[in-house]
Amino acid sequence: MDIEFVRSRFIKHFDGKTGNVYASPGRINLIGEHTDYNGGFVFPGAVDKGVMAEMRANGTEDTVMAYAIDLKDRVDFKLSDPAGPKASWARYIYGIALEMKKLGVPVKGFNIAFAGDVPLGAGMSSSAAMESCFACGLNDIFGENKVSQWDMVLAGQATEHNYCGVNCGIMDQFASVFGKAGCLMRLDCRSREFEYFPFKPDGYRLVLLDSVVKHQLAGSPYNDRRNSCENVVKHIQAKHPEGKFETLRDCTWEQLDEVRAEVGEEDYKRAKFVLGEKDRVLAVCDALNEGDYEKVGELMYQTHEGLSKDYEVSCEELDFLNDVAKENGVTGSRIMGGGFGGCTINLVRNDLYKNFIADAKKRFNEKYGHEPKVYDVVIGDGSRKIC
Ligand code: GLA
Repeated sequence: MDIEFVRSRFIKHFDGKTGNVYASPGRINLIGEHTDYNGGFVFPGAVDKGVMAEMRANGTEDTVMAYAIDLKDRVDFKLSDPAGPKASWARYIYGIALEMKKLGVPVKGFNIAFAGDVPLGAGMSSSAAMESCFACGLNDIFGENKVSQWDMVLAGQATEHNYCGVNCGIMDQFASVFGKAGCLMRLDCRSREFEYFPFKPDGYRLVLLDSVVKHQLAGSPYNDRRNSCENVVKHIQAKHPEGKFETLRDCTWEQLDEVRAEVGEEDYKRAKFVLGEKDRVLAVCDALNEGDYEKVGELMYQTHEGLSKDYEVSCEELDFLNDVAKENGVTGSRIMGGGFGGCTINLVRNDLYKNFIADAKKRFNEKYGHEPKVYDVVIGDGSRKIC
């Protein structure tokens, strides 16, 4: 992304002065889907695409003047207005500002202009990129950078919960804040411990195929999935009052089977996927340590199968892209992110790459009337001040 582009708009739309520039990335996730809010493991990495914002205190007590460069949309609002702005993009600014205030940052009025190159609705967390970018800026401008990285992650998540209607986990905001070029990160979402995993698969590459089918997580089946998981935990806890069951992380296959009849087949299938996925993330780590990329790929296909059949967050277009990958001998492929549209992540051998992409474009176009978009994955750095 281009600083001069963002800066020129900031200058033009406000009072001609410059501010500070911050950037935060979107993310990929190799494996570990819908495990974050279940206390499990995830394996994301930041990408080289994200959000860039120029920001500056404007001297008012609580008036925010915000310009979304890509949408050419300007919204002004007051932080003291309990309803906040209506425009969905402006709610991220409003929400994160209030969450940073809760953390003790004396946020006052500010001007902000931002742009992004994370494809929207592709499952690459454009919203987390916004939250962590704005959090990073507010922390710097008003908070002497006293808020820790983890608190910024949690402020981003709270913004989704409290102002945007998505009961998400912490994976996206974590990846956006903590990302490191060339590294994936294995995060234990319960203890919040994580490790950087240098990811340079010799002879393979990661590529995303974006179906351009858009999902909308707010008020969507995303929250229903989370409710299903929590319902299963509640039933297991009731059967085992001696134990402490906070999330599916604390539950075993046997305990899940015990409550199968009472929770019903749908919730059972949701929890079954999560228990399997929890193990798969660890298996992927072992396989990576051994350089066994074929094993990694096999586990990715298993995840797709589970997300499609048991968790039911895939869609026809993504199942089609997954089949095309399989038929082209792609090592691993699966739907990535929350689901209900978006893209597949593919681990593909270098020598198969060209044919796979050409075949996927051709066949998808024949069936759905447009080509999928192709993004080669470059694993980039997390949130930072640019200047
Ligand atoms: C969305 C949410 C994340 C996570 C993924 C699914 O991206 O924001 O917290 O639950 O879906 O893995």
